[in-house]
Amino acid sequence: MKMRKAMALALFLHNFLLISGELHRSEFPPSFLFGTSTSSYQIEGAYLEGHKGLSNWDVFTHHSVKIRDGSNGDVADDHYNRYMGDIELMHALGVNSYRFSISWSRVLPRGSFGGVNLVGIKFYNTLIDALLIKGIQPFVTLSHFDCPQELEERFGAWLSPQMRKEFSFYAELCFREFGDRVKHWVTFNEPNLMLHFAYTIGGFPPDRCSKPFGNCSSGDSMTEPFIAAHNIILSHALAANIYKTNYQIKQKGLIGIVMAVTWFEPLRDIIQDYLASQRALSFDVAWFLDPLVHGDYPSDMQQMLGLRLPMFSSKEKRLLKNSLDFIGVNHYSSLYAMDCKSSSCNMDDFDANNALIYKTGERNGVPIGPLTAMPNSYVVPSGMEKAVMYVAQRYNNTPMYITENGYAQHDVSLEILLNDVDRVKYLRGYLNSLRNAMRKGADVRGYFVWSIIDNFEWAFGYTLRFGLYHVDFKTQERTPKRSAEWYKEFLTDPAIQS
Ligand code: NOJ
Repeated sequence: MKMRKAMALALFLHNFLLISGELHRSEFPPSFLFGTSTSSYQIEGAYLEGHKGLSNWDVFTHHSVKIRDGSNGDVADDHYNRYMGDIELMHALGVNSYRFSISWSRVLPRGSFGGVNLVGIKFYNTLIDALLIKGIQPFVTLSHFDCPQELEERFGAWLSPQMRKEFSFYAELCFREFGDRVKHWVTFNEPNLMLHFAYTIGGFPPDRCSKPFGNCSSGDSMTEPFIAAHNIILSHALAANIYKTNYQIKQKGLIGIVMAVTWFEPLRDIIQDYLASQRALSFDVAWFLDPLVHGDYPSDMQQMLGLRLPMFSSKEKRLLKNSLDFIGVNHYSSLYAMDCKSSSCNMDDFDANNALIYKTGERNGVPIGPLTAMPNSYVVPSGMEKAVMYVAQRYNNTPMYITENGYAQHDVSLEILLNDVDRVKYLRGYLNSLRNAMRKGADVRGYFVWSIIDNFEWAFGYTLRFGLYHVDFKTQERTPKRSAEWYKEFLTDPAIQS
């Protein structure tokens, strides 16, 4: 008991020091990318403008009852019409990069089953050019949870191997049209998290899952997430291969994937829980990254899932290996992991059932850190260093970008939202922790705050706010929060100007 209290106190003190410590831009390399992140469905709006096709999210939000405030991304931040102003906001902060995603259904309204939408291509060309004029490098994601609804209807999207061809077709179009100016390509954003909601517990389209894991009417959560992941992993490898073979030498860019990386601490000070925390990372992160770096699924997943985990042929393994130039890490929070091999857990819980672990944010009723407005998301800055070191060590120090990090607020009064001191503390703490990982040798090359503006937060609709700028969704007015001022001050560190 004493030991556990001492551990909790050490974690608390470490995090306190990270939050309150000094931090300067000049402690990061001059070439380091500092930016902000968004995604198309969450900000663009204009869901029917410019000959765009319907995406799976357009259709889902119009029918589902699972969006907390019943809202959708039809208008969102109206970024499609206001992108110039939004670029000004970024420029005012002094960022040198912007991570955004292309809406697949805006450039290929019906996937490969219709033509290319030239209005969509023009929109992204104009956006990219406008960014470059301001000295902001585009960092582009191809698939950030959305895909043309046509592909969902024709063959059940990611459950079908046909998606590999569809994704390659789409990716190559983007390399061809935008690759002369885009030097960082992300194939998929957080496929691990996306599949959890799409096929395990529900809440994201196609909202499939099997009871008792979630509240859906159809689906098989024991197999579908693994089948869909298999198709996504191979889609990445095929697109990366096309890029490396036909475009990379001329365009001189890099291609990677972005994973949601939650850090796991052992719940109890016992070896079984330590192993469970490692297993949690395997089943969550190494699930995708092991195949893409080492050529196959992690051995603990293979052992525990048996035939539920699809297999790669030797030709596929060769294609997969080293298909990442960089790894994108989205890191927000840490959780505890408890072993369910040695202790009894609720086997209706999906993780408990698959990986025999139980995940929780609390130990003896004490949270692992202050809770943010996002359920199960806690402020634990030291998790950043640990997550980054885990990825660096497991993947031979592959270049890494922190493609997302941010703090959620509840939608309260404007005055409180603008005075977001907790977000400032959060960002400072996590950046301090990132710097520690870099001092230990992790090859991290960039950091992006989620997000520049408040936006549509998936199943939470507009009830959670992540922006450095507040958005009044009635008037579309953008107002800087205290965190925007802080980021700007940090980025304009005089030591880096001279
Ligand atoms: C992860 C996702 O990539 C992004 O779309 C989401 O809004 C943020 N994290 C915050 O939850």
